[in-house]
Amino acid sequence: MSGSGKVRVAVLISGRGSNMIALAEAARDPDYPADIVLVLANDPQAEGLARAAAMGLPTQAIDHRAFPDRVSFDAAIDAALRAARVDLVVLAGFMRILTPGFVEAWAGRMINIHPSLLPLFKGTHTHEQALAAGVRLHGCTVHFVVPELDAGPIVAQAAVPVHEGDDADSLAARVIVQERQLYPAALALVAGGQARLEGGRVVINAEPPDGVLFSL
Ligand code: GRF
Repeated sequence: MSGSGKVRVAVLISGRGSNMIALAEAARDPDYPADIVLVLANDPQAEGLARAAAMGLPTQAIDHRAFPDRVSFDAAIDAALRAARVDLVVLAGFMRILTPGFVEAWAGRMINIHPSLLPLFKGTHTHEQALAAGVRLHGCTVHFVVPELDAGPIVAQAAVPVHEGDDADSLAARVIVQERQLYPAALALVAGGQARLEGGRVVINAEPPDGVLFSL
């Protein structure tokens, strides 16, 4: 917790960082239960780093290409998080697979957003996967991170319709609008202690906001 009593959050990104911006905008509210104390990217050129700096957020780049293996890269990330006294790690378009050791070290204290209604369409190219499967509903999921990829306990989900004539880009554009609403709401639940891990599931003690489908 920071001096303000807020949960200290690091947001990890790899690219444009639009989810990170949505989180940072939400965190400007004095009543929001989390403070973003670090925006960390594995790519020094990540567009989101400059956007975070422009918002006055502390930023850091740890280039994964400078490390011989995943374990040493993850150790550097871990050290940066600890130096910033981070309570909760928020993955937002972070495109590196984290080692089991790192994930275990942050178990119950790390969440991710995935652009599908999990457990459907894990991994990459989720919008292509959804179109190929012919589903009528698609969406996004915020979940706790466990060593198995995209398999952790679900905090919150939002759904969008799949329209005739959609392609991966039009579907992604519809989903990302929901991601930017869902992630700040889900982080507030986790940071505020209203979404708790219990026996490998998330128990939520709050009313879902309008338009958001929770995992209840
Ligand atoms: C989002 O769709 C996220 O779910 C996925 O990568 C995208 C990142 O977008 N894993 P942004 O960098 O937050 O704009």
